[in-house]
Formats: sequence, structure tokens, C-alpha cells
Amino acid sequence: MKGIILSEFVEFIEHQLGEDTAQKIIDDSLVKSGGAYSRVGLYDYQELIQLLTQAVAETETDATVLLDRFSHHLFGVFKRDYSVFFDGVATAAEMLKQIDEHIHVEVKKLYPDAELPSFSYTQEGPILTLSYQSPRPLALVAQALVGACLKYFGDNETLLSSDLADDHKSAHFSIRTEGGG
Ligand code: HEM
Repeated sequence: MKGIILSEFVEFIEHQLGEDTAQKIIDDSLVKSGGAYSRVGLYDYQELIQLLTQAVAETETDATVLLDRFSHHLFGVFKRDYSVFFDGVATAAEMLKQIDEHIHVEVKKLYPDAELPSFSYTQEGPILTLSYQSPRPLALVAQALVGACLKYFGDNETLLSSDLADDHKSAHFSIRTEGGG
């Protein structure tokens, strides 16, 4: 996993909980890197799970709640640093449909060692079904990013259901889209 997401997670907990609590979470999580992430460095994705698990324990907040807040933060960073992917995109559904064939393709060109999941979708009437598949068990991250994407575009579209595989390496998200497209 690239350092972008990990360094943003550290920034997020520092901002939310203060430097001291963030440092305690990093120390107690026992991450191999020691929590100093370069955005372009490559790290074990397990470090994200370790940090998240420790943040959950420290704050007694649900993992899904923390991930939702973090994803909201991350989406703001995406918009700031990769605004080109937002140009001409009017709805969350449009963005979600573009992840696999456009956004993550470009991300891979920028960072050839990035480890990206794959997404596919089907649309039946107003219902968009987005499917996540990855060698890494980050379905909760995917779920939170879908939520952040919907929120970013004004919550005009709704996540109706999430169906996560037990191993968290795949998931299906059912979204009611605008206008029945
Ligand atoms: C401007 C928009 C986006 C950018 C720049 C972006 C970029 C990235 C980057 C850099 C990574 C990390 C790769 C690595 O660590 O090696 C990543 C992973 C991921 N992205 Fe995106 N992304 C965007 C939009 C989205 C959206 C809308 C979703 C919604 C589902 C999404 C879902 C994910 C997931 C679930 C992962 C990690 C999961 C895994 O590795 O299995 N991304 N993305």
C-alpha cells in the first residue's frame, strides 16, 4: 500500500484526537514502519488495519464510524490533489463507475507500484450495483469510500445495502441513483 493513504490516516487521527493520542495509537499499534510514512513509499497494508484497530480500541468508536470519518477526510484530499478526476463528474454514480476504468488506471500510471482493487458494476433501472474485489481485505474501506463519494456529491443518491464477504476481500454495494439512469 502506498504511503498516501497511511500518511493521511495518521494526519486524520492527529487532527481528530490530537498529537499525543495519535502517537499513542501509533506506538500501541506496533506498526513495523513506526508510523512515519512517505506518501510515495510502499508499506504493508496490514499497517492500516493495525492503526485502525488501535484507534478503535483507544477511542471506543466503531471501526465503521472511524472509517466513514477518515474516508470523508480522504475524499477531500483526493479533490485537493487529484481534482482532474472530479472535472465534469456530476454525480457520485458517475464517479463510482469510473474508478476501475479511469481513476485507478491513472493512479496506477502515477504510481506503478500502487496496489489497487478492482471494481465492476451493473445498472438496472435506478439501481447501481458496484462490486469490489481485492487480494486485500479492505471491503470496509471500500464501503466507507462509497459513502464518502455519495456524501461529496450531496447525498442525492443512497447506499441501499452493502454485502461484504466474510473475508472482506469482496463486496457488493447497491446504490439508488439519480434520475433512474
Ligand atoms: C479521485 C479519486 C480517487 C483517487 C485519486 C484514488 C486513489 C487511490 C490510491 C492512491 C489508492 C492506494 C493504492 C495503494 O495503496 O497502493 C487507492 C486504493 C483504493 N481505492 Fe481509490 N481513489 C479514488 C477514488 C476511489 C473511490 C471513489 C473509491 C470508492 C469505492 C475508491 C476505492 C478504493 C479502495 C477500496 C482502495 C483500497 C482497497 C484495496 O487495496 O483493496 N477509490 N485509491
